[in-house]
Amino acid sequence: MISNQASAYSTSLARDKRVHRGIDKTAALWFFRALLLIPFALMGPEIVSAILGRPGAVANISASVADVLGTSTFLIFLTMLAVTPIHAITGWRWHVILRRDYGIAMFATAATDITLAAITTGDTFPGTVLTRIGGHTFLFAGTLSTLLLVPLVITANRRAQQWLGRHWKSVQRITYVVWATILLHLFLLFGLTTIFLYAVEVSAPLVLLRVPLVRRWWDAARRAGRHRVLRGAAALVLVAVFAAGYVPLARELAEKGGATFIQQSSRD
Ligand code: HEM
Repeated sequence: MISNQASAYSTSLARDKRVHRGIDKTAALWFFRALLLIPFALMGPEIVSAILGRPGAVANISASVADVLGTSTFLIFLTMLAVTPIHAITGWRWHVILRRDYGIAMFATAATDITLAAITTGDTFPGTVLTRIGGHTFLFAGTLSTLLLVPLVITANRRAQQWLGRHWKSVQRITYVVWATILLHLFLLFGLTTIFLYAVEVSAPLVLLRVPLVRRWWDAARRAGRHRVLRGAAALVLVAVFAAGYVPLARELAEKGGATFIQQSSRD
């Protein structure tokens, strides 16, 4: 009798723990989704000012759009690319849904970026709309990166996955082309300095963990519980390299985004 009661108690305790963990994961998912609103919140005041026709508002958007929305799009992209390596390292599955959410948000942010650039940047790139989005090679690379997101976002759902069958993966591989065109965009803008170097740094661990040999080794070792110390040390190094690129980019967004939010954008 007593042992029955004890086992019922421990079963309900285990159930409570599982429910709690479920709630924690749901809260974490919504936290990561909420972060995706930041770029729009940062640009909001300037956009509202432009709609209200306030003087200088369009010039403000022109000065801040690439910094705020370009950096945001890139950070969202990098976070999306981190989902699969995090699964490979930890075995977690709860966060995998964020890959699709971040992909869709990346498109929304990039689409807003190109739309605002096409409307407002005539002061920097005089000419037609085409000049503003493709008048320089670096602009063309940014525009191409954005356009290549269209097939990705259109097929980011179950129906498209069923319809395309085995071709779905090939379409999703466009992600790697986008990665290359973004790096080209940044190289043409910054050369071998600052933002381009951060982009290479942050990309390196994400690329390494996609190399089939590395991925298979890690997966097999994790499942078998082997090489714990080696995997732990390697994970630390990879996270450190990733952070060395990601943190300065996030800081850049915080600084430029903060100035944009209070409508004090400056051209650099
Ligand atoms: C997937 C799309 C894109 C990504 C990920 C991206 C990313 C970036 C990043 C990270 C920067 C550096 C921002 C900084 O200095 O803080 C940047 C700068 C810039 N981007 Fe993009 N970009 C994209 C699309 C575009 C498009 C469509 C255009 C215009 C048509 C554009 C025009 C520019 C310009 C002019 C700069 C230089 C801004 C400055 O330093 O003042 N980008 N981009």
